[in-house]
Amino acid sequence: MYNCCRYYGLQGLDEHAGDAAFSVELNHFTFGPGCLREAGSHARALGMRRVALFTDKTVRDLPYVTTVKQSLNAAGCDVEIYWDCEVEPTDRSFKAAAKFALGGAFDGIVSVGGGSVIDTAKAANLYASYPDDFLAYVNAPLGQGKVVPGALKPHIACPTTCGTGSEVTGIAIFDLIEQQCKTGILSRYLLPSRALVDPEVTHTLAPAVIAANGFDALSHALESYTARAHSAKAKTYDGFDGAKRPMNQGANLWSDMGAREALRLIGQHFVAAVNDRDDQDSRAAIMYAALIAGMTFSNAGCHLPHGMSYAVSGLVRDFKPPQGYPQDAPMVPHGMSVMLNAPSVYRFTGDAVPERHLEAARFLGADTTTAGLADAGEVVAKKLIEMMRAVNFPNGLEGVGYSTVDAATLADRAFPQQRVIKNAPKEVSKASLQALFESAMRYW
Ligand SMILES: NC(=O)c1ccc[n+]([C@@H]2O[C@H](COP(=O)([O-])OP(=O)(O)OC[C@H]3O[C@@H](n4cnc5c(N)ncnc54)[C@H](O)[C@@H]3O)[C@@H](O)[C@H]2O)c1
Ligand SMILES: [Fe+2]
Repeated sequence: MYNCCRYYGLQGLDEHAGDAAFSVELNHFTFGPGCLREAGSHARALGMRRVALFTDKTVRDLPYVTTVKQSLNAAGCDVEIYWDCEVEPTDRSFKAAAKFALGGAFDGIVSVGGGSVIDTAKAANLYASYPDDFLAYVNAPLGQGKVVPGALKPHIACPTTCGTGSEVTGIAIFDLIEQQCKTGILSRYLLPSRALVDPEVTHTLAPAVIAANGFDALSHALESYTARAHSAKAKTYDGFDGAKRPMNQGANLWSDMGAREALRLIGQHFVAAVNDRDDQDSRAAIMYAALIAGMTFSNAGCHLPHGMSYAVSGLVRDFKPPQGYPQDAPMVPHGMSVMLNAPSVYRFTGDAVPERHLEAARFLGADTTTAGLADAGEVVAKKLIEMMRAVNFPNGLEGVGYSTVDAATLADRAFPQQRVIKNAPKEVSKASLQALFESAMRYW
């Protein structure tokens, strides 16, 4: 019998206890310089006439919104612009955007911005299409985890950053203010109808944004590649009711393919994309890698670096983000809150799937010729730390204002993120989560 996951070699987990099949859900995307000018054509194909265009206060003043709006107008669309999307959005900003979407009798949504804007547009589309209590569709246990009832209005996503892959995921992430923790809404119906991925948008990105973005994409790929195999994850639905198979189903043949290519591109181009403003080819490569990594993790699921990041960003005290992010409030940018946990995590998960850790390090450009399986986690950690240092990244969680006395609280906040934590290739207790935070405080 063909058994795609035999090679996986999970320790202590029965690799046949789970779902024998996996599903892949993708949306239509276009990649290439100048493709934002196609917005009108795609809007017409989707039957849009009256469009809500979401952006943020910074992107509003960059040329991309004008390009997209002109293209939509030329195709006969009425466009109303909403530019109040918060960077690293909260439930407050999701609700305000939903109110705008509900009030305007729109038949289509266009988002022009980073993950913050695209996620806000997804949520606005959801609550305008199927109004409900805000927490209804939010992941349990913080929300009620209600299933999204059906298709939303058509949404064309135009990313202007190069990391989240939100243009090709069915995920909207936000900070739930009262819980001081990030969480999200997950549904295939949140997948934008089309994505226009134009690498020319990276010309105006600050180096620190590209660093956080590139590491976010790297982590999407690396977490998907080292996630628990779908065949080792307990089924969450009955019998052959496969339409209910979750998107975070675990590593699978298809996500492996995307992860490999994203890691290879990031290994080759990341440092130049951040450090050399004139290297547009490297920036374009990171934009493409982020797109692939988005499709990858959307069909496999992330694990510990992301699960831990939601506490790191939610409990921020006084860390001011680097230039390129709004300076009016403390904030740990998403890619930073993820990556600072990563070396600590891979030292821990290395023995669960050592071959995969070694392969991943190789894709990123590490020399693994003398490394043995016992070194796998350390080899990945070393490569990641080398990349962090090369782009002047903070030195662990201490670099964004935490110390070991915070590790227990961080673990308390992160532990409920079982959806992602259970995707790790080995079991994780609250005590081991606390130890992972402690080991993430300082790397050099
Ligand atoms: N939905 C998903 O699948 C998914 C995945 C990962 C992360 N996220 C979420 O995405 C958010 C982060 O998104 P992001 O990293 O794309 O950044 P962002 O949208 O928060 O933007 C970062 C900064 O860059 C500015 N900016 C955006 N495009 C620019 C451009 N072309 N030139 C100059 N400045 C520009 C923004 O105004 C902002 O100040 C977080 O809330 C995170 O949780 C979502
Ligand atoms: Fe992410």
